[in-house]
Amino acid sequence: MAFRDRLEQRHPRRVQVLPQDETGLLDLDALLGRPAEDTAVYCCGPEPLLAAVEQRCAAWPAGALHVERFAPRTGANDGPQESFEIELAGSGTTLTVPVGRSILDVVEEAGIQVLSSCQEGTCGTCETTVLAGVPDHRDSVLGAEEQAANDTMMICVSRSRSARLVLDL
Ligand code: FES
Repeated sequence: MAFRDRLEQRHPRRVQVLPQDETGLLDLDALLGRPAEDTAVYCCGPEPLLAAVEQRCAAWPAGALHVERFAPRTGANDGPQESFEIELAGSGTTLTVPVGRSILDVVEEAGIQVLSSCQEGTCGTCETTVLAGVPDHRDSVLGAEEQAANDTMMICVSRSRSARLVLDL
């Protein structure tokens, strides 16, 4: 809504504003019921809306949906806690990530500067390239197919399914 005027000026026939207090809840079945090949869906808002949009977009092409959360998905970080090793490819240093500590904690403690912000897996700032190993994704940023690719991870919350991860740090 903050950019409504600018958007309506720039794309007068392509912007449709549907405030809930004027038009009621979004008709998601009408808006998203039929997957479109060349359409991206961006959504932020309360969790019930995000969940409903994710459900409607389940049949859409991979990568079409982009969501922004302000709190982690329910249960996102509930998996088991186990210790594992990380290798920092830049220096060849191997570090142990113990139970109860994040990769980000361990890396920062070793003196490596990594940009981070939310530290709960919602903002994407700490996204790190994975060079080897299998991450245990616990973030609320990456989509299912992005997580399945296992080539990047949010090191503030995600852990490892393999005994060792090699990270591009
Ligand atoms: S710091 Fe926000 S996702 Fe890791």
